[in-house]
Amino acid sequence: MGTTGIPSTSPEGDVLHVQVAIVGAGPGGMVLAHLLDRMQISCVVLERRSRAYVEARVRAGVLEQTTCDVLARLGLAARLQREGLNHAGVDLVFDGQRIHIDLAQNDLAGITVYGQQEVMKDLYDAAAACGVDVRFEADGVTLHDVSDVPRVTWRERGQAMSLDCDFIVGCDGQHGVSRTSIPSTHIRTFERAYPFGWLGILADVPPVSEELVYCRHERGFALASMRSPSRSRYYLQCDADTRVEDWPDERFWDELTLRLGPELGAQITRGPSIEKSIAPLRSSVSEPIRYGKLFLAGDAAHIVPPTGAKGLNLAVADVTLLADALDAHFRGEGSGALDAWSDAALAHVWQVERFSWWLTRLTHVFPDDDAFETRLQASEFRQLVHSAGARRAFAEHYVGSVMESE
Ligand code: APR
Ligand code: PHB
Repeated sequence: MGTTGIPSTSPEGDVLHVQVAIVGAGPGGMVLAHLLDRMQISCVVLERRSRAYVEARVRAGVLEQTTCDVLARLGLAARLQREGLNHAGVDLVFDGQRIHIDLAQNDLAGITVYGQQEVMKDLYDAAAACGVDVRFEADGVTLHDVSDVPRVTWRERGQAMSLDCDFIVGCDGQHGVSRTSIPSTHIRTFERAYPFGWLGILADVPPVSEELVYCRHERGFALASMRSPSRSRYYLQCDADTRVEDWPDERFWDELTLRLGPELGAQITRGPSIEKSIAPLRSSVSEPIRYGKLFLAGDAAHIVPPTGAKGLNLAVADVTLLADALDAHFRGEGSGALDAWSDAALAHVWQVERFSWWLTRLTHVFPDDDAFETRLQASEFRQLVHSAGARRAFAEHYVGSVMESE
C-alpha cells in the first residue's frame, strides 16, 4: 500500500508521473483508487469539490452483494458489516395491492442498506490511512492528448499543477470534463429523459416498513426506504418543474400517506425533515467508453434513474473490471483485457439500464400514458403477482446477480 502519491509541488520543474490519473472522487473514483493501490499501481485522484461537500451529498443507499464483496476485499467493510442493514426481501405496491419479493431465495444474497454518504466516509478515511493520494478542490482539471500521451493539468490552492500518466480514468460524473474530452465523432450517447423528478426527504423517525417499499399509486410513485432503524428516507414522484419550497414537510407527509395507502399510511411516523431535495430522472449510455488512453466509468459513462438504486453499484462494477484489466496490462500480460473492457462493461451496463428503465416504467405515472399503457402496466404487475419465475427474475436484477449468471 501507499504506492500512490506524487509530490504536491515540483519546484525543480520535475515531470510528475503516475500510472493512472483518476478524475473525480465519488464512489467510482475512490473504489478504483483503492483497487489500484492494492495492486501497487500508482495513481492520484483529482476532485473538484471539498471532502465535506462530497460527504454531505445525500444519494441512494442500497448495496448489491458484489459491491459489499469488493469493499470487503479492500478491507473497507468493517463498519458496513456492523451498521449495514441486510434485507432479504423488497415490497411492491401497485394500486393498493402489496407483494413481497424474496431476495434471498436459493443462491441470491439479498441487499444491504448503507448510505452512499457512509460509503464515502469509509473510502476517504481509508485513503488517508493508506496514503492514497486524493486532491480535493482541484480546480480547472483539464485533460490533454488523451489519444496518445496523456497529461492532466489543474490548479491546487492557486498553484498550477501538471501530471503525466499512462492512462486517465474519468470518474467525474455526468457533468465532468472527461466525457467532453472525447471528440464527438468518437462517442455516441443514447438517452431517455423522464417527464418527472423525485422529491426525497431524510427524517429521524423509524421507517414505516422493515422492507423497502416501491409503490405505484394513481397520484404517482412513492418509495419508503431507510438509513437505520431510526432514520427514514422517503421519495415521491413529483412534477419536473416543482421546487423544494413548494413542499413543506406537512405536504410531503400527507402525500406520502395517501400514496402508500391506508394500511401502510397509517403507520408512518412523521417528523421534521433533515434533508429535502429534488432530482431529475434520466437514462443515458455513452459508447464506447474508451478513447485512446482515456476510460470513462460510472456516471461519467452512463446514468440510470434511481429506481432500483443501481448508480453506485454500476460505478463499482465498471471500475472493478477496469482495475483487473489495468493490472493485467501493467503486469505485462498485454492489452487484451483493456481492449475488451469497454464492450464488457457496456454489456453489464445495458442489463442494468434495462432493469432501471423497466422498474421506473412499472411504478411511475407517465403524464402522457393513455388507458392502453396503464393496462399494460397493471398486466406487468400481475405477472409478478402470479409468476414465481417473474419474481425470481426481478430478484436477480434487484440484487445484481445477473452478470454472474450470464
Ligand atoms: N474535476 C474534478 N472532479 C470532478 C469534476 C471535474 N471537472 N467534475 C465532477 N467531479 C467530481 C464530482 O464532484 C464528484 O465528486 O466527480 C465526482 C463524481 O462522482 P459521482 O457523481 O458520485 O459519480 P460516480 O463516482 O460515477 O458514482 C456514481 O454514485 O453519486 C452517485 O448518483 C451517482 O449513483 C451514482 C453513483
Ligand atoms: C435510498 O434509500 O435512497 C434508495 C433506495 C432505493 C432506491 C433508491 C434510493 O431505489
